[in-house]
Amino acid sequence: MPSRTLVTGATGTVGFFLVRELSKRGEPTRAAVHTETKAARIAEANIELFEMDFADKASIDAALKGIEKVYLLTPFSPGQVEMAGFFIDRAVAAGVKYIVRQSVAGADTEAITLLRGHRMAEVRLEESGIPYTHLRPNSFMQNFSNFFGEAIRATGKIYLPLKAASVSYIDARDIALVGAALLSGNIKEERLNRAYALTGPAPLTMDNVAASISRASGRPVEYMDISPAEAKLGMKAAGMPEWAIESMIELYEFQRDGRGERVSGAVEEISGRSPLSIDDFARDNAHVFRSAA
Ligand SMILES: NC(=O)c1ccc[n+]([C@@H]2O[C@H](COP(=O)([O-])OP(=O)(O)OC[C@H]3O[C@@H](n4cnc5c(N)ncnc54)[C@H](OP(=O)(O)O)[C@@H]3O)[C@@H](O)[C@H]2O)c1
Repeated sequence: MPSRTLVTGATGTVGFFLVRELSKRGEPTRAAVHTETKAARIAEANIELFEMDFADKASIDAALKGIEKVYLLTPFSPGQVEMAGFFIDRAVAAGVKYIVRQSVAGADTEAITLLRGHRMAEVRLEESGIPYTHLRPNSFMQNFSNFFGEAIRATGKIYLPLKAASVSYIDARDIALVGAALLSGNIKEERLNRAYALTGPAPLTMDNVAASISRASGRPVEYMDISPAEAKLGMKAAGMPEWAIESMIELYEFQRDGRGERVSGAVEEISGRSPLSIDDFARDNAHVFRSAA
């Protein structure tokens, strides 16, 4: 059956789980692959792999051929808003009937650069006339494995400038579950032109996160509160570009002020399953946090 749904960012954190979910549900899906060598990890039944670059109009037009529904996910990049806008224009031209766009929790507040950018992309989509659903996930639990896993493995410490603030971290598998529920089968009229904050089941302090990873991995893991200046130095040493460092420092400040702690019921409302806990995440990723010794 020809593909009806296109998943962009398909080889990334959420896309990886999303294409599996769509495959399980038998949804004929085209996965947009940016780097060809990453394609193999998302090869599934009902999944067509297709090379696409957000900067290349011809590749977007080809990827959108015959497509009705799209999961639009752009990378964390200073060009994110332009990429989304460019893609949305091409989707209008292609006659796409529905776009689920991955935004970020708090986009509606437009309080910091990252949130303002996502809100601008949301507005582009709203003004395009294509029926949409905005998904606004909070920070991913997978950040602890993807970005801090190596440091946790090496030192048993998580360094972040969050003080004792709580954040309702979400497991990326739940975002994928919500995306798949929205995109498989018929378009869900009741979800159109709405925004959903997606969170985990509970607000978590960094001490809670460290304790969970400790229990699951069987090694002591401790949260070390650091200043924003120390966080900046750490990110610089890790080779992050200046725009990304500034953006993350703003986000940490937003979360340190308690603005990332709200819990939403949308994962269960849309997917029918309660969101995964930090213990679930830590158990399923325990191998990442165990030291080699
Ligand atoms: N991480 C969080 O805690 C969090 C929380 C809320 C919202 N978000 C938002 O979620 C989005 C990122 O989602 P994610 O973490 O699932 O993705 P991700 O792991 O960062 O992966 C990004 C995906 O986009 C692809 N990509 C990069 N440049 C591309 C280009 N020029 N053309 C086509 N594809 C391209 C990547 O492929 P290659 O690897 O081959 O380049 C990859 O498949 C961002 O908008 C971010 O702001 C993140």
